Amino acid sequence: KRLFILNGPNLNLLGHREPEIYGADTLADVQAACEAAASAGGYEVSFHQSNAEHELIDWIQQARTDAAGIIINPAAYSHTSVAILDALNACPCPVIEVHISNIHRRESFRHHSFISARADAVIAGCGTQGYVFAVNRLISLLAAG
Ligand code: DQA
Repeated sequence: KRLFILNGPNLNLLGHREPEIYGADTLADVQAACEAAASAGGYEVSFHQSNAEHELIDWIQQARTDAAGIIINPAAYSHTSVAILDALNACPCPVIEVHISNIHRRESFRHHSFISARADAVIAGCGTQGYVFAVNRLISLLAAG
């Protein structure tokens, strides 16, 4: 089983989009850093991004059987999507929610995430490094059983 790392809308523009908020790393840089951290722990990664809610839900449903754990940055869907929460609630594996920015220091509409009710951990405000923290934490959780 693999670590599923799922990214929501507009994260394909990472490195180009509002770099003062999200930094200069691209999503390809994030993928490479996650793959390195995962392989050090003996895991392979399935890394995906979509601007479409249904595609994220389809990957989460696939994760029910194929993932050892899920790392998800649902991006703007964090603040709107009961459907993504429901999909994650149908998954038996650990889930870690990542936000590159500190959503609590930003506009009030970003302060609530539907996904946090399901997440085993939430990482926000660590920049793209948060993904690597999430990989390492997931590996610790899985090792603890
Ligand atoms: C984000 C924060 C969300 O509020 C925003 O819509 C994003 C990215 C983050 O990683 O900081 O697209 O999830």
